[in-house]
Amino acid sequence: MIIKNLELNNYRNYDELNINFNKKLNIIIGDNAQGKTNILEAIYVLAVTKSYLGVSDKNLIKIGNKFSLIKAVIDKEDSLKNLEIIINDNGKKIKINNKEIKKLSDYVSNFRVILFSPDNIRMIKEGPGIRRRFLNVELSQLSNKYVKLVNDFNGLLKQRNEFIRIMNLSSNSDLSYLDVIDNKFAQLAVDIYGYRKKFIDQVNEQISKIYEKIAGFSDLMIKYHSNIDYDEDKKVMINNLYDKLKKSFDKDKNYGMTFIGPHRDDFYFYLGGKNISLYGSQGQLRMAILALKLSEIDIFTKYSGESPILLLDDIFSELDVTKKNKLIDYILNDVQTIITTTDINLIDTKLVENANVYVINDGKIITQEIVSD
Ligand SMILES: Nc1ncnc2c1ncn2[C@@H]1O[C@H](COP(=O)(O)OP(=O)(O)OP(=O)(O)O)[C@@H](O)[C@H]1O
Ligand SMILES: [Mg+2]
Repeated sequence: MIIKNLELNNYRNYDELNINFNKKLNIIIGDNAQGKTNILEAIYVLAVTKSYLGVSDKNLIKIGNKFSLIKAVIDKEDSLKNLEIIINDNGKKIKINNKEIKKLSDYVSNFRVILFSPDNIRMIKEGPGIRRRFLNVELSQLSNKYVKLVNDFNGLLKQRNEFIRIMNLSSNSDLSYLDVIDNKFAQLAVDIYGYRKKFIDQVNEQISKIYEKIAGFSDLMIKYHSNIDYDEDKKVMINNLYDKLKKSFDKDKNYGMTFIGPHRDDFYFYLGGKNISLYGSQGQLRMAILALKLSEIDIFTKYSGESPILLLDDIFSELDVTKKNKLIDYILNDVQTIITTTDINLIDTKLVENANVYVINDGKIITQEIVSD
């Protein structure tokens, strides 16, 4: 998949922007706070329909304006598609080829991106919510069935919590209703677990190799922690989970919340057998996240038959020269890549010669060098 053109109107610090991308490498250069990240964020919003920075849609509208528009032409399965997101005070509209898409689940796996941002380090440093969100976003990009599954599960979880809160207040509640919820809950939970486990297994097939290529040291892996017990037989998994829900019932009722299920799952990075969040250096954390993101390229490509678009924000800072060069070697593959940097001198001249280079200043492209595809 290729993004050929991006148009912005009133987006962050851009009044308007129109940019044509090369199908291989694109480099965005600029000083701090000029709008480099904003371009990558806009492409991400177009894929995922919200920012990865956890800000509300309103913050994306250029201050003092009523709406914001992100538009792109993508080349997918050898045909061109127009994607469009309009954000205003009342919400957002999403269009494919000028036709409005009402259901998010019909949209999100349509245009796939992998974004590396310095902000991603939070994924190792912070609590489990951010890691579950990562799994949900990536899997939503891969499968609209997953989007629906998570929506259904969240609805059921809310229902269960409300019901056990009521039970806590009145002693005569209908246990058979809870049983109906728990049966369905166990099925959906095991399905979510299945998607996530497969994804993490696929990451683990590659992440160590990729980490070694960049960092010169291998043995990185991700461990998925779940209170759902794995079994080859899905029915056994569902039954086990159902039993666990029953066992947890008194505690759940006391707290008015559900302690068992994929909404409590987590994963950790282990480097050389040690949990990286406790022992890793700043550079190691960045490289671990980078290795995770790069390992997703193959997974995304396998799912859809087309490579995703790789967005690498500020990748070279905090990496020493050797690692920078190794990373550059890695980037040189067939995946369309857009990278940002404050300093063009950080990038190998051979790479620069074959890339589109845009210099950004105060929300405008001030110079650009375009190479033919
Ligand atoms: N809604 C908004 N309206 C207007 N300006 C905004 C809005 N949101 C962010 N900005 C401006 O965008 C600029 C930041 O852009 P961006 O994060 O893309 O910078 P950058 O080039 O990536 O910088 P750095 O090298 O520091 O990462 C800041 O000047 C900020 O004030
Ligand atoms: Mg930035």
